[in-house]
Amino acid sequence: MEKTASHHIQKDHQQYVLTSWAKQQGTVPKVITKAEGVFFWDEQNHRYFDMSSQLVYTNVGHQHPKLLEAFQHIGDIPLSSPGFASASKSALAKKIIELAPSNMQKVFFTCGGAESNEHAIKIARMVTGRYKIFSRYRSYHGATFGAGNLTGENRRLSVEPGIPGFVKFDIPYLYREAIDFASEEQATDFYLKRLHQQILYEGPNTIAAVFIEPIPGSNGVIIPPKGYLEGVRALCDEFGILMVCDEVMSGFGRTGKMFAVDHYDFEPDLITFAKGITSGYAPLGGVIVSDQIAAYFDDHVLMTGLTYSGHTMCTQIGLETLKIYEEENIIENAWVIGEILAARLDELRNYSIVGEVRHIGLFAAVELVKDKTTREPLIQYGLDYGQDPVRLMNKFIAMLLDKGFYTYSHESSVIIAPPLIITKDELNEAIDIFETVLKDFEKEVLEIGETKIVSAK
Ligand SMILES: Cc1ncc(COP(=O)(O)O)c(C=O)c1O
Repeated sequence: MEKTASHHIQKDHQQYVLTSWAKQQGTVPKVITKAEGVFFWDEQNHRYFDMSSQLVYTNVGHQHPKLLEAFQHIGDIPLSSPGFASASKSALAKKIIELAPSNMQKVFFTCGGAESNEHAIKIARMVTGRYKIFSRYRSYHGATFGAGNLTGENRRLSVEPGIPGFVKFDIPYLYREAIDFASEEQATDFYLKRLHQQILYEGPNTIAAVFIEPIPGSNGVIIPPKGYLEGVRALCDEFGILMVCDEVMSGFGRTGKMFAVDHYDFEPDLITFAKGITSGYAPLGGVIVSDQIAAYFDDHVLMTGLTYSGHTMCTQIGLETLKIYEEENIIENAWVIGEILAARLDELRNYSIVGEVRHIGLFAAVELVKDKTTREPLIQYGLDYGQDPVRLMNKFIAMLLDKGFYTYSHESSVIIAPPLIITKDELNEAIDIFETVLKDFEKEVLEIGETKIVSAK
């Protein structure tokens, strides 16, 4: 694309588009002029490794030829509203049920992650006749009103005062826990006892559902301690509470298995999904429900709906995406390359600015600290999105970008989640860049001092 054309696109964006989670003034959006596989190029023809898969969705990579081909045939398919059956909607729902845990029976399609969680809230309330909804701090479930109320991190503050009956509980985030547990099992025991008590305090008969990202993504790939998720399942069973796993980010291969819950020994009642189902090529999400919940709606009206629930274009692209995952062994690749990523990231623990690294499959985060001994975070909790006056993390992300490594961060954690098709050589090249930047940044933070970094900007 010509430079002048990109310039107009950028200018018109600034003038007419409201950009998410940003102060509009001073926001200079890049224009992606070309993309292929794990790379994209900007208006200056600079090439970047897409190390966050945009917003953790381009699992099959950019411009996958089979998906581009599928789009060529979309026009041949007649449009039909949710009450009609269509070939792609029926086939996709069937396929998702085959891939999901064995207790799952039906799918309600939506257009994205937040909408999926909105519908999971409604379904849980309809089925149980209860109204309270539990979810965790340091979670992200979407930006709409209900999903925003589920969200535990500070992005929920924009929807407060919130919906009555939305209750937050603590997440086992062992790196930042005041208690130094002797083992993962001890930590699990502690958090489950606390949750048990909180359920009693809130009144078990009022609680419809517990929402959990099995592995929280945006908040830094926080891996649960052994037995924790199974323990939450047991508590839900004890009190007749539904367990909803939000797999919007972790689902469809990100962790090296189809769903994150496949790494553990339990089955949720509902799973919400989006992103990876179409690799982001079309806006599709959904709620997968268990056989028991599906049976409930045999003789109760499902009091919800969306104009585009099961949209023919989106379900066709979803079906094609699942075919690609299978034909190209993409989820196996995520596991195999994930092991290499794990080994490379584990080596970074030696840097004094690296507090912790966490990873599973191609889902990873590097948490930066100012001081390894005190674990003082690089930026304070809540000072994200340009609110950090020192802008240390902005500086780090900008340095990465400058060297051709694109990703984003949340608080002090840098997300590393490349397309699941990434090869060993591509991954190593990208992590080499990351390490070089880390070294330079560490030097600047330690030797120059943060004040000078800001004034150097
Ligand atoms: C776990 C999780 N749930 C829900 C959402 C919201 O999805 P969407 O932005 O498609 O509404 C996200 C988005 O990043 C997510 O990571």
